[in-house]
Amino acid sequence: MAYENIILEKEDYLAILYINRPKALNALNKDTLTEIRSAIEDVSADEAIRVMIITGSGDKAFVAGADIAYMQPLSGVEAREFSAYGEKIMRMLEIMEKPVIAAIKGFALGGGCELAMACDIRLAADNALFAQPEVGLGVIPGFGGTQRLPRLIGEGRAKELTYTADNIKADEAYRLGLVNHVYPADQLMDEARKMAAKIAKKAPLAVGYAKYAIGKGMQADLDTAMGIEADMFGMCCSTLDQKEGMGAFLEKRKPVFQNK
Ligand code: CAA
Repeated sequence: MAYENIILEKEDYLAILYINRPKALNALNKDTLTEIRSAIEDVSADEAIRVMIITGSGDKAFVAGADIAYMQPLSGVEAREFSAYGEKIMRMLEIMEKPVIAAIKGFALGGGCELAMACDIRLAADNALFAQPEVGLGVIPGFGGTQRLPRLIGEGRAKELTYTADNIKADEAYRLGLVNHVYPADQLMDEARKMAAKIAKKAPLAVGYAKYAIGKGMQADLDTAMGIEADMFGMCCSTLDQKEGMGAFLEKRKPVFQNK
């Protein structure tokens, strides 16, 4: 698929997905969502890629939300379909086997905050600004924000942010647990790459199984979740990389993982 609204770059083990509509502050319309879906499929199928970073093109925004011009004339039925489509793409991102790091500079509003929340790890620039401003537009978060925000930062704080539509800066997002780290804006991508490199050196199947166990387990009761963890632990021991990882430890050398 030829992309008009995103850029997908690949370097060695790393894929970098840029949301690329800087004139609209990278707002997400339906075509952009479709291109993100295609990029997720591409990266998932590419055996060389171990980690993906998602960021925004230009200096001002990660993503300033779902596209308001696109949404304004929608009927109820069309809006429901658009919301469900956005939710589906966010979920694809959330459950893809490879870890995804959001590198967030500037505005991460509405659908932008929701896109970041569907990633595994959120790294923010010190100029990042987060909000769920939807109620100020007469709608509610529609790409998973009513569900992921309370899961990430707790119900009370999620309700406050959603009902007031307040903007929060990077340091407050860090305090609330919405982002993992905050860096000076000019260091953000270097830090995201460093984290990606660290993850890429680990056993890829084990990283994927850990992602699966955490994701599925978070939706289950503790006993069920422990069962999922044990299943995935067992799966790890059917991989060559587990034999290599533990063998290398015992032989006092560095492991060489093959993703097998
Ligand atoms: N949708 C469509 N276009 C957008 C946009 C959005 N979410 N955000 C910004 N743009 C466009 C602006 O319309 C403007 O276009 P023009 O140059 O053609 O007029 C361009 O991007 C630059 O924006 P501004 O001139 O407004 O830039 P600014 O620096 O003065 O303000 C801003 C920046 C505070 C982010 C402001 O643009 C803004 O408030 N944007 C909307 C943010 C928002 O409410 N997002 C939530 C959308 S609803 C949603 O996401 C629902 C959901 O969950 C699915």
